[in-house]
Amino acid sequence: MSTADIFLGIQWGDEGKGRVVDSYAADYDIVARFGGGDNAGHTLVVGAQKLALRIVPSGVLQERPQLFIGGGTVIGLGGLIAELDMLAALGVDTSRIKISDRAHVVFSYHAARDAASETARGAAALGTTGRGIGPAYTDKAARVGITFADLRDLGLLAARLRSNAGDAGDAVLAATLPLLPRVLPHVVDGVSYVHEALEAGKRVLIEGAQGTLLDVGYGTYPFVTSSHTIAGGACTGLGIGPTAIRRVVGIAKAYCTRVGAGPFPSELHDATGDALRTAGAEFGTVTGRPRRCGWFDAVAARYAVRLNGLTSAVITKLDVLSGLEKIAIVSGYRLGEREVGFEAAAQPGLQLECQWFDGWDDDLSAVRKIADLPKPAARYVAALQRALGVPLDAVSLGPERSSIALV
Ligand code: IMP
Repeated sequence: MSTADIFLGIQWGDEGKGRVVDSYAADYDIVARFGGGDNAGHTLVVGAQKLALRIVPSGVLQERPQLFIGGGTVIGLGGLIAELDMLAALGVDTSRIKISDRAHVVFSYHAARDAASETARGAAALGTTGRGIGPAYTDKAARVGITFADLRDLGLLAARLRSNAGDAGDAVLAATLPLLPRVLPHVVDGVSYVHEALEAGKRVLIEGAQGTLLDVGYGTYPFVTSSHTIAGGACTGLGIGPTAIRRVVGIAKAYCTRVGAGPFPSELHDATGDALRTAGAEFGTVTGRPRRCGWFDAVAARYAVRLNGLTSAVITKLDVLSGLEKIAIVSGYRLGEREVGFEAAAQPGLQLECQWFDGWDDDLSAVRKIADLPKPAARYVAALQRALGVPLDAVSLGPERSSIALV
């Protein structure tokens, strides 16, 4: 019986997956990313060290696991090398980092196309991270993408770059060649790597990127990223069957944020939204953009529970709510008389039903068991658990590795 457990975000990304994965990673032999690219920003705080990972899985600061960047990802070589260098400078053994030969390469022309398509959209811009993620996945689906396996064949690489980037192809090739000796030693046959590990009884933690509501098929399309961020994406992104998966753990912030444009029914446009942004340091890890902030949305959460088949959940950043007098959960959506679900999130005239809770002033940073939470915080957590309808594994109460309260 293999042990592959998925940990993924069930909101719009930035749920604090990095710190959760970091704290569970010591129990696993491999931590694997299955999708997205360096549009992700996973922040880890260990002692005085704070680092933002973009493509390397969040288990990298634990000594035990190998780190695997799966075939469903798209990776820019310059950013990857910068991240490897940053980790090596911290004393991390980067030879533990493996990249699937099926992953696709993001080139400078993808970033240029990302910027041009955002400009062309004008006021309807998606607010992408500008990293070329969408155009790289477009090329993959159009069957003109360049994989990490292709980087081993310079003749093929040159021909593909010329055909993809025209006259600029030679310059892209010239910029790419010096990077290859740094990258190729990390490239492995991704399918054999994962399956041999599973067959040997290794424990694999599969780490999501972005969040469920940014999934290209089931998120708030077109205001989404270009990959499948949901649990099914872990199977396609790593080349494993659904039967390999044991647990699917959903990570949800105790409130909601979104960076970039698109529907966000529970968004707060008032001083409470500003207070959440300041208390939660809600500014993009990759782009520095202020995140839009709002109440926990139980309608969105139930939608995400279904899409992912969650077996349990982790709540993050509960400490950020300390000091608020009242806290709401959006418990329902209505259009006129009709109760509607998350599919109506973008409908004009959507009305929200809220359930209100008393806040708390206590500092939660010393709490290590959910049972030790102050009463109002415990009531709020119990309501989140009821909204999700799955057992809670833990509640995180701060950015530090140790700030996690277990059930
Ligand atoms: P892209 O992934 O750069 O194409 O951006 C598409 C949308 O996904 C934009 O709204 C981004 O802000 C959002 N997005 C992409 N990656 C992340 C992430 O890691 N956290 C939060 N939002 C993200």
